Amino acid sequence: MVYFAAMSKKVRTAYVCNACGQDHAKWQGQCSSCGEWNTLSEVRLESNSVAASRSLPGTQQATPQLLSSLEGQEVSRLRLPGKELNRVLGGGIPAGALVLIGGEPGIGKSTLLLQTALRMLGSRVLYVSGEESSQQVKLRADRLPGDNPDLYLLPETDVEAILTACQQLHPALVIVDSIQTLYSGALESAPGTVGQVRECATRLLRYAKETGVPVLLVGHITKEGSLAGPKVLEHMVDAVIEFEGERHYQYRVIRSVKNRFGPTPELGFYEMQHTGLKEVANPSALFLSSSESAAAGVAVAATLQGQRPLLVECQALVADAAYGTPQRSANGIDMRRLSLLLAVLEKKCNLRMGSKDVFVNLAGGLRLDDPGMDLAIVAALLSAYFDTPLPPHALFVAELSLTGALRLPVRLEHRLTEGQRMGFIRGFGAQASGQALPEGLTYHGLAHVAELLPTLFG
Ligand SMILES: Nc1ncnc2c1ncn2[C@@H]1O[C@H](COP(=O)(O)OP(=O)(O)OP(=O)(O)O)[C@@H](O)[C@H]1O
Ligand SMILES: [Mg+2]
Repeated sequence: MVYFAAMSKKVRTAYVCNACGQDHAKWQGQCSSCGEWNTLSEVRLESNSVAASRSLPGTQQATPQLLSSLEGQEVSRLRLPGKELNRVLGGGIPAGALVLIGGEPGIGKSTLLLQTALRMLGSRVLYVSGEESSQQVKLRADRLPGDNPDLYLLPETDVEAILTACQQLHPALVIVDSIQTLYSGALESAPGTVGQVRECATRLLRYAKETGVPVLLVGHITKEGSLAGPKVLEHMVDAVIEFEGERHYQYRVIRSVKNRFGPTPELGFYEMQHTGLKEVANPSALFLSSSESAAAGVAVAATLQGQRPLLVECQALVADAAYGTPQRSANGIDMRRLSLLLAVLEKKCNLRMGSKDVFVNLAGGLRLDDPGMDLAIVAALLSAYFDTPLPPHALFVAELSLTGALRLPVRLEHRLTEGQRMGFIRGFGAQASGQALPEGLTYHGLAHVAELLPTLFG
């Protein structure tokens, strides 16, 4: 990156794109790098700013080395208490990793991280709170389980003071709540601005890489639902975890959207209780409502989230359009996917969807993007269209192509076995000759979506 000097030798002004992190010599309406409009912010940098010094952590005096001469080492990981956070991080937090956890206000970010710190018995943890006083954190800690005698609180926003405390304490894990409240004296701008967020994150990244101590950062979410601060922050960190959930439901989901040390997209499930976030051992049960399964417009999809199968109920409502333009609404699935499935039904099954209002929902306000859910959505739409319930205890699992052909999703057996465990007795999906299928579950393999209608309703 290039920084441009302005006026004084020590203070430099740059205009940083909020979307892509590119620097510009002067302000302009459109970023010449990524093409976004109105994303440039003025950043004043002093010569002692780490971000301006350009050297990446751990690369001082680096000389090129032959890849073949290096010895591969297994990443050492710090196991966190509980299964869900470890699962999403790919088996614990790697040494020296910088992990960003983002979520809407009040979703439970501080609760999750504080309860993690409280349960890390035998590990020294430094919990830096830039948003709340020690008393507020203590009040929260009192209602959470766990009592780590080696947990230190630091209500501080000055990144230099935080790093000094880290060097004195030698913690095994540092938690910073939140990156938007930190500031560095090297910059004149206010906390939360693009320059400050980038500078503070760079300082913490350097600390993590140099000492091998993992750092968990809390990040705010903007009105639009993306992580606040420069996009470059997401590039900088090793993993980005999104914390989401519906206000009207007790459950919360953590989802890894980026992970340099493990697979994505893994999901972790929690339930918000008075005593903090309780892990959900059987998430499939959370998104199935037994009372509604006999109603028209309901189909159960066998999805796969990372390594774990998850059953979820798809609900559809198809009604004659009351107004001129038919309405389309999708909650939990991509709107474009719904349009595509409706077009396939219209064309390949001769259904008149064009004159209908169509609403599709995933139970519990869950948001998923597994293409293996296509058939369940189609089955729910058919059931709603004909106002006829689907066969009881049935699962649907297949991806739909534009031609209407059904495709096998990955790990079919894994998905069906989860269905069998949850009491399902029949499955509908793509033809699966040669595939190992669980015994005790009748599987109906179909080649084309047009076969679904006679198979389901005779
Ligand atoms: N006494 C309580 N009993 C049950 N739930 C509580 C209690 N106190 C707080 N909560 C839950 O915890 C949530 C707040 O959690 P937390 O402060 O961890 O969120 P956060 O994501 O850190 O929010 P912020 O963005 O404001 O920092 C509340 O929305 C509420 O659901
Ligand atoms: Mg908080």
